[in-house]
Amino acid sequence: MYFDPRPKNQKEDLYNRQRELKQFTEAVTHSPLIVITGLRRTGKTSFLNVAMIQSNQPHTTLDLRGLPYNPSRADIIRRLNSAFNKIDHQWFSKLSDALKHLRGISILGNEISFDWGKDGIDLPELFAEIDAWAGKEKKHFLMAFDEIQLVRGDKWIPQFFAHVADTYRNVTLILTGSECGMMFDFLDFDNPNAPLFGRDYVQIQMVNFTTQQAEDFLTKGFQQIGVEASPKVVSYAVQNLDGIAGWLTLFGSRCQTKHSSSEALVDEVVFEAGKLAREEAVKLTAISKRYGLALNYLAGVGQAGWGQIKAGIEANEGHAITNAAASKILNTLVKVAFIQKIEEKYSITDPLMVKGIKEEPLPQ
Ligand SMILES: Nc1ncnc2c1ncn2[C@@H]1O[C@H](COP(=O)(O)OP(=O)(O)O)[C@@H](O)[C@H]1O
Ligand SMILES: [Mg+2]
Repeated sequence: MYFDPRPKNQKEDLYNRQRELKQFTEAVTHSPLIVITGLRRTGKTSFLNVAMIQSNQPHTTLDLRGLPYNPSRADIIRRLNSAFNKIDHQWFSKLSDALKHLRGISILGNEISFDWGKDGIDLPELFAEIDAWAGKEKKHFLMAFDEIQLVRGDKWIPQFFAHVADTYRNVTLILTGSECGMMFDFLDFDNPNAPLFGRDYVQIQMVNFTTQQAEDFLTKGFQQIGVEASPKVVSYAVQNLDGIAGWLTLFGSRCQTKHSSSEALVDEVVFEAGKLAREEAVKLTAISKRYGLALNYLAGVGQAGWGQIKAGIEANEGHAITNAAASKILNTLVKVAFIQKIEEKYSITDPLMVKGIKEEPLPQ
């Protein structure tokens, strides 16, 4: 069902992305590193889930959302532990059999548990064992990191896994995130200190649906849930929600709850989506009010150059700020994909975030 608001897990629930799935399948066996890029809500997690299942390889995903800015080793091992407990049962028992003799690993029934204490699990040892196991099974173990830019605070994590992908032929590293977040922090071509500098990788991009695809997605989705939707409502929805899979899905899901569709419901979803997008931006303003200032400014003017935004922040603060400070704010906003830079002009990537901020400016 297309309108299920959770990230998709099944191919039949994933609209389109055929070409990308083929690209993934081809890459899995020959590339040690696959990078899935896209803005928020374009369907990275959904694609990753479906692609990994379809690959018929043992796989797991480390979800990096909600971790502190600077996660500790214990934080990561705990996440890794829960990732391992989600490995499909067709692999789980074989893999846990192969790992059970390792230090810091205990297995109780269908649960594996990692000891993250000082004398606990040794990550290189763990991955060496996984590599050996995958080799014996003639498989590739797919280790995915969802939203990699969220661990920018601590480089040892991607560094460690880059080492894993380099050293172990049977482990494939998969990263998802905003294109800029990844390019800046991990794959940076100009920066030899970036953990994945100079690596060969396959990039798969999640782009927004075209107008035609978005209309087709909604029309088919409405058929699946048995709710009527006139072409007029569908086209109104596409105009207002853009080709962003996540917002189109949210609209469909609301229509399912109400058993009806209307332009008024589109407006409601635009409002709700704006608020949701705004909430995400509010979290950033807790780190620095300047994020709020920059985003409020951009929501007001649509697009602006670096100097204009800096001047906007200064006007509000009543004093000059350094170039470095202004760049840091804008670079971070680009990295987390809230804003984009096109031909020297910055603008907010999600038109619904613009609406949400206009409705209620961010704290500043
Ligand atoms: N190709 C697709 N077909 C159907 N639903 C999709 C598709 N891509 C994304 N979605 C839906 O859009 C929303 C956001 O998707 P998600 O995978 O969480 O995006 P991301 O990880 O990029 O933020 C979810 O409700 C998901 O079910
Ligand atoms: Mg996601």
